[in-house]
Amino acid sequence: MSSMEKATHLDSPYHAVRVSEHVYWVGAIDWSLRDFHGYATQRGTTYNAFLVLGEKITLIDTVKAPFKDELLARIASVIDPARIDYIISNHAEMDHSGCLPALIAELKPEKVYASPNGVKALTEHFHLTPDTVTAISDGETLALGELHFTFLETRMLHWPDSMFTYLVEDGVLFSNDAFGMHLATTERFDDEIDPSILEYEAKTYFANILLPYASLITKLLAKVGGLGLTLNAIATDHGPVWRSDIHGALARYGVWAAQQRSTKAVIVYDTMWESTAKMARAISEGLLEGGATVKFLPLNSSHRSDVATEMLDAGALLVGSPTMNNNLFPTVADVLTYLKGLRPQGLVGAAFGSYGWGGEAVKQIEEILSAMHVELVGDLKVKYVPDAAALAQCHALGLAVAERLTARPVPTAS
Ligand code: FEO
Repeated sequence: MSSMEKATHLDSPYHAVRVSEHVYWVGAIDWSLRDFHGYATQRGTTYNAFLVLGEKITLIDTVKAPFKDELLARIASVIDPARIDYIISNHAEMDHSGCLPALIAELKPEKVYASPNGVKALTEHFHLTPDTVTAISDGETLALGELHFTFLETRMLHWPDSMFTYLVEDGVLFSNDAFGMHLATTERFDDEIDPSILEYEAKTYFANILLPYASLITKLLAKVGGLGLTLNAIATDHGPVWRSDIHGALARYGVWAAQQRSTKAVIVYDTMWESTAKMARAISEGLLEGGATVKFLPLNSSHRSDVATEMLDAGALLVGSPTMNNNLFPTVADVLTYLKGLRPQGLVGAAFGSYGWGGEAVKQIEEILSAMHVELVGDLKVKYVPDAAALAQCHALGLAVAERLTARPVPTAS
């Protein structure tokens, strides 16, 4: 089957795309999304939904509410949407369930299925009557017509309700957010897109959405592996369907979830009159001399989600802020709040910054890094403008962090 095999529907610009014998992609492409809850989505996104055509017709997930007409038009390019018998909701977050209440009202499906937590979440989000959604259990297999759907609860990946659905006959795993990426493209399959873009966007998605649940992902990958499923495709709810590099998609999650730390040091800072910037550059020289690699991220030109992505495999986080009004510089407070929520593990770090009279910012950085369980190697405050002696201290701080980084065992590829 060609990836370009599409149903035709002359009255609409929207078409379904065939994924496997029984499955069609019927999602929506959001070309203009640039922010997803604070995560910069420079390439837009897709909200994927999948239509499964057998003796019975099943829709897996829906789309964000404003995209309902696009979803219905893509479905209509294959079948009359009123023929849908069942809807399966893998995830209650509103980019996938936003138009579910409207579809239930318009299409009147025989049943809507979700995990037990999904039933609660959908009912509470949309103020549905309790019998609107039917709970399905972890490991349960439903026969819908001649086709069989097995459900796998993936609690806290990344919401309590999340689950996977596996279509036995086609070997397609519908994985909701997992293995996804924010990437709007006209192509629907992994082998049609530059692999470096796929890897970067999948990594960015993992770092900004899934990192807090890394240990659960490790367990989930083992569970999925133990089931011995035939996987012909992983149909995620964002970005392309994996049909060629399925092993790579799974393996990269294994590596990222393990949070293997490299000798890369990330320097994140902002500056008022260039003093903290001068400190950052001197620290960077010390890090390089000590054998670390350095990613330099001034916050006047780096987004918080770029920092999160760089941190996924970094070993050190060095944060610099001038003191302003007895406080952290606002951009530094922003990025630290964001990173703390993502709960990276196994980092070493340091705090630095210039000040005029109070100098509270460095201590505030250290408090946040300590709350993140970052192993602090040192700190440095410089009054007003760093002189040669202060810059030498910065260089020494960089060297000390590098020594700590390079003394660690080198991670091995799994
Ligand atoms: Fe794409 Fe958790 O929603």
